[in-house]
Parts: sequence; structure tokens; C-alpha cells
Amino acid sequence: MPAIILVGAQWGDEGKGKATDLLGSSVDYVVKFNGGNNAGHTIVINGEKFALHLLPSGILSENCVPVIGNGVVIDLEVLFGEIEALEARGRSAAKLIVSADAHVIAPYNTTLDKVTERFAGSRKIGTTGRGIGPTYADKMNRIGIRVQDLFDEAILREKVGAALYLKNQILSKIYNRRALDAEAVVSELLSYADRLRPMVLDTSLLLHEALDAGKTVLLEAGQATMLDVDHGNYPYVTSSSATAGGACTGCGIPPTRVSSVIAVVKAYSTRVGEGPFPTELHDEWGERLRSVGGEYGTTTGRPRRTGWYDAPISRYAARINGVTDIVLTKLDVLTGIESIPVCVAYEVDGQRVDEIPMTQRDFALATPIYETFPGWTEDISQARTLADLPENCQAYVAALEKMSGARISVIGVGPARDESIVLHDLLH
Ligand code: GDP
Ligand code: IMO
Ligand code: MG
Repeated sequence: MPAIILVGAQWGDEGKGKATDLLGSSVDYVVKFNGGNNAGHTIVINGEKFALHLLPSGILSENCVPVIGNGVVIDLEVLFGEIEALEARGRSAAKLIVSADAHVIAPYNTTLDKVTERFAGSRKIGTTGRGIGPTYADKMNRIGIRVQDLFDEAILREKVGAALYLKNQILSKIYNRRALDAEAVVSELLSYADRLRPMVLDTSLLLHEALDAGKTVLLEAGQATMLDVDHGNYPYVTSSSATAGGACTGCGIPPTRVSSVIAVVKAYSTRVGEGPFPTELHDEWGERLRSVGGEYGTTTGRPRRTGWYDAPISRYAARINGVTDIVLTKLDVLTGIESIPVCVAYEVDGQRVDEIPMTQRDFALATPIYETFPGWTEDISQARTLADLPENCQAYVAALEKMSGARISVIGVGPARDESIVLHDLLH
């Protein structure tokens, strides 16, 4: 059986957690391949709400093995905190497997993330303050701490010493913060080693063997296309590869084993943090989307910026990721809006532009060209087939499909697992 990739098409929070959970009972492995506890996925099962940050969303499916791939950055305190919180609610994390090559978020990197943002002032990114950027920077700079380092005290001590030699200069001389004691950092990291050891494997090998044995592997992205470090609105992005290409490097499965790419797309747009957002609304419509859609960050609680659907963004995501199926979420949130604007193209310097502009300047200046679609007033949360949807709602879905570059296979009409309309089997 193949590997399947699931990504976010917009700026995150599209409902990837729910979509992954929906597939959880039909797949054998769910692998988180990028990001860390900057992610926040809310999953609702039988009325019970779970907020996951670091754990793969497949953790709530009994027969599925959750895997944290090498592309993830791990805050060990958060990892064990999440495991304990799940266990306290009667859920098991016993099957969790962690890559020996995943990087660890050291305490100095969380500190650096926060102070850098504070010093950046109006030039800040609006990060989640979880140490994500500095940890990926260390990885690329080849001074990162990996999971496997925790099992060799001498290596760990050497690596933390080398990293802190540099970081302490920055912390104390630039940011006027207290230098950190290397031994204290080593002890803190070592305090997790015994609990972590039984979970750690060569996850690339594990997944290859699973695929050879006919198992289905779902590769689940954190963040989304427009937050991808290469393909998003740089520099207002996260520091990892959140698109389909990143799935392969983030877990060690080659592209030739991937059979399909699912993109989760919200029926309108949201963004958390700074950066351009052409369809952003600053009026009562924006407030309505926020309140009806519950658009507050799962990780930081920040109100999400809200706006209308942006078709060029979805088309871009379809192109960058090679999307085969779209999961369209939160259609129910649009119920009751008399006419629904959809951004079909942009205007830049008086010219119509149909695709995302090449330069950051042009994207920052892009104003949406809207087409308006008639809305519906009927409650759609009970709809389970396309025919159950009001005519105008069906027309809205058909229009989005036509503009968005891939077929819509699932429609979300509420946060619960079963509040979905399945049009095509995602595991075809
Ligand atoms: P993720 O980061 O992509 O996993 O998304 P989040 O969990 O951060 O945000 C999506 C929110 O929308 C969560 O609160 C979900 O429970 C909720 N949600 C997902 N799909 C639907 C849907 O179809 N309708 C409604 N009303 N809520 C949904
Ligand atoms: P999920 O997986 C929405 C945003 C932050 C900030 C930028 C960089 O739930 O979709 P970082 O802490 O990653 O360095 O912050 O990225 N961001 C997210 N926005 N959903 C997320 O994850 C996000 N993860 C990071 O708000 O703008
Ligand atoms: Mg989220």
C-alpha cells in the first residue's frame, strides 16, 4: 500500500487534525513530518474535545501507530505533558514512535525565540514563541541537539556546550539576558532520556518495512503551504517545509512511494501572526467569521485574522503540493451569509493578476477581485450527502472546486468526526 500526504492549503488551522482523525481508523501509521508544538489541532470525538500540539493526530485512533518523524522539532516537556494529559483521559500513547534523528528544542531556543521577537518590534513575525525557528536554525547550522544525543551523555554534553558557547554570547551580550548553565541544560534533557528511549527507532526503516508489508502510511503536515519556509510568504512563515516535498525529507520515504496528496482547505481564510493576507476583513464580516468559526488559536489563544476564500491561494497549493483531493472544511460557518464573496484574482498596480504574484512587494499590494455567490440559510450540519445541501451551497462548492485545481472529496459541515460529507474515498 502507498504513502499518502495530507497538507494545509492556506495559513494553517484548516482542520487538518479532524481530517487526519477521520482517516485514522483506515490507515496503519500517521506520521508527523514537520513543525513542533507550534501546531494546534482540535479533534472532537463523541462530543469530547482534544487539543493536540506535538502528538500526531492519529494518536486517537486505536489501531493506528503514531510516529514523530525526523523532520519534527520536539520540546520534551511538552511531549510528556501531552502524553500524560491523554493518559489521564483514558487514552493510550503507548504505540508512539519517535525518530532518533528528530531535533530537540533546547530551553535556550525557546528563550531566544521570545526575546528575538520582542526586540524585532514592528518587524516581528508573530511566532508562537515555542522555539521553533531557532531550533531549525541550529539544525541547518549543524549545532542542533537530536533525540539520539540524549542516549550518549558525553556527546550530549559536548553538543550542548558547543551550542551554548555561541548562544550565551547572544543571550547575554545582545539581549542582556542571563547566560545559561550548560550542565543544567544537560541535566534537564537527560531527565527525559529513560522515558524516551523505548519509543525511539529508525523511523525511516520502520516506514519502509511497513510499506513493503502492504501497510498504509499517512504523512501529516503541521502548518500549511503559505507558511512553508520556501513556498509561503517569506519571511512571514514558519521555519520548516510544510508542503508535500517536505513530507519525504521529514520522514525518510521517497516520493516514488507516495500515491496521493490531500489538501485541507477552509471554506474561507484565516491567518495567525503577521504577514500579507489579501482577503483579510476588518469589518463585522471578519468578526462574524471569527465568532461563528471559533477562530482563536489552539496553541496561543490569539484571535485569528479572518477573510473570504482566496482561490488563487488554493490553486497555488494544488500546484506546489500536487494535490489529488481536497477536504473542504467549515462550510457550515458560512450558513446565513446572504451573498458570499470569493477572491478569484488580484489587482496589482491596476493590472489583473490570476496567480500569486512573484514578488513579496506585489503580493503585499495585491487587492482581491471578488465574485459573489448567493448564500443559504438552512442548517447544513446534518447533511451527509451532496444532495442534502441547499442548492446555493452546492453551487458554492462546485464553484470552489472549479477554481481550486483539484476535486473536492470530503466536505466538513461541523467539527465532529461524523459531520462530514464523503464524496470520494480518500484512500483510493
Ligand atoms: P488544524 O491546525 O489544521 O488541525 O486546525 P485547528 O484544529 O487548529 O482548527 C480547526 C478548527 O475547526 C478546530 O476547532 C476544529 O474542531 C474545527 N473544525 C474542523 N472542521 C470543521 C468543520 O467542518 N466545521 C466546523 N464548524 N468546525 C470544524
Ligand atoms: P497548525 O498546524 C497557524 C504561524 C505563527 C507565525 C508563524 C511562525 O495548527 O495549522 P513559528 O512559531 O512557527 O515560528 O511561527 O507561523 N504558525 C501557525 N499558524 N497554524 C499553525 O499550525 C501554525 N504554526 C505556526 O502564528 O505567524
Ligand atoms: Mg491549528
